[in-house]
Amino acid sequence: MRVDEELRLLIKSRNPVVFFESIDELHSLEQLTEITTDSGLGQFRWSLTDGLSKIPAEGTYYQTKDPNRMLEMVLGLVSYQGAKKFQPAIFILRDFHKYLDNALTLRLFKDVINKIRNTQTTLVILSAEYKIPKELESETAHLTGGYPTAKEIEGLIIDTIGESWQSKTEIKMSLTRDETTHVVAALQGLSIQQVRSVLNQCVISDNILNISDLKIIESCKKKIFDKEGLLEFYLTEDMNSIAGFDNLKRWLAERKDCFHPTTAAAALPAPKGVLLMGIQGCGKSLAIKAIARELGLPLYRLDLSRLYSKYIGESEENLRKALMTVQKLSPCCLWVDEIEKGFASSDGDIDGGVSQRILGTFLTWMQEHNTTSFIAATANNVYRLPPELLRKGRFDEIFFVDLPDARSREALFKIHFQKRNLKPDGFDIPLLAAATHDFSGAEIEQTVISALYRASGGKEPLNTGHILEQIRETKPLSILKSEEITSLRTWAKDRTRLA
Ligand SMILES: Nc1ncnc2c1ncn2[C@@H]1O[C@H](COP(=O)(O)OP(=O)(O)O)[C@@H](O)[C@H]1O
Ligand SMILES: [Mg+2]
Repeated sequence: MRVDEELRLLIKSRNPVVFFESIDELHSLEQLTEITTDSGLGQFRWSLTDGLSKIPAEGTYYQTKDPNRMLEMVLGLVSYQGAKKFQPAIFILRDFHKYLDNALTLRLFKDVINKIRNTQTTLVILSAEYKIPKELESETAHLTGGYPTAKEIEGLIIDTIGESWQSKTEIKMSLTRDETTHVVAALQGLSIQQVRSVLNQCVISDNILNISDLKIIESCKKKIFDKEGLLEFYLTEDMNSIAGFDNLKRWLAERKDCFHPTTAAAALPAPKGVLLMGIQGCGKSLAIKAIARELGLPLYRLDLSRLYSKYIGESEENLRKALMTVQKLSPCCLWVDEIEKGFASSDGDIDGGVSQRILGTFLTWMQEHNTTSFIAATANNVYRLPPELLRKGRFDEIFFVDLPDARSREALFKIHFQKRNLKPDGFDIPLLAAATHDFSGAEIEQTVISALYRASGGKEPLNTGHILEQIRETKPLSILKSEEITSLRTWAKDRTRLA
């Protein structure tokens, strides 16, 4: 629901207190005024510097800058039963949470609540940060806002183009209808000021706003939100640059429309996330980048190793902040790489339970967050994965990434030839695929790279022989770790689906 609709509903449903956490006070005041005007409610505003006044301003009530005096005044107003009985109104109290740690203020505030309960009169605390005493939590509805709507963002885009036109540097916009929707979606979650500034950055260097500016928007957004630097913005990859993963590809194709509100599938619940586990170097990280592209979501990687701070207790706070940032960045794809490293199950005793608590925070968030973010996690070492993470319902699916089969190995050679501008026709690909049984994708890529060095050293064009030579010289990891891999496969057999 849109925030203004939600506000309307809360006021109508006689909620005594609404905490309106807003990054843009003026915008929110406008929204609130629209609501009071439409619904015939009175409006009062208070701030520490202006005191209490009725809107449209009839002057300020005497000596109401002081929070307690103001509350006494409000109490008097709402209790008045005389000829001009008090009409339902909303009281907009700016930054008022800051005064609620005073016992008298808190008491007066509760007195007002008791007076206005079950009336349409509402106290709206308007502030950029949400903080409320525990005992008021149950009476307070929390809303976040101040963000422009999609329509307003489109208006801001048009403004940017228009303004530049006045300043005589001609700025062009080259976006299809679909692309505009994408750009608008990427700009959501920013304040009006921030949208303006990001748009300016998009056009400043090339005087054109087009789809390639999505990258700039995403990295600006990340800079704005992620002050701790726990999230990293990544560019996505094309699904065609990945060999194998047939089941994952099919799974995604069936679900990708859920994230795009124009399609019929948008009515279906969007998938929450997947876990890719399996053998190192077989393309898990690469697959995540392609998943994000398929779903049409920007990709952010959560760096778990940076999460752990020296100071016990702070790491949980850091994770909480990062997850809140994800909320602001969504819809997005959250990539948790090598998840076992962050949530190691065995370290509980060593670190005083920090990793256990971190895991708890993460699981709770997975369960309860109501954003359209998709979690894509990878794991190499399943034995270190806490069982809670694998329980049904956490991830929509757990995929096992095995060594590539012969067909995938052929595809791997083709992909990596093409990546280096080599024509696949010039090589005996079936022979190469047959020779690389037990090789991971990363190892296959490496044979091509090393062979290229060898060939250029000998001043020869690369041929099949160069690569076969490298293959013979490589001892694949899967042979060194064959026992580990066998047991991984056994583990995965009943618990996962082949990727
Ligand atoms: N299935 C694959 N298709 C294409 N390239 C692959 C594949 N598997 C591995 N690679 C190559 O190996 C590199 C390393 O793989 P990566 O995704 O980091 O593996 P993992 O995360 O499973 O350890 C990739 O960047 C890619 O170049
Ligand atoms: Mg990886």
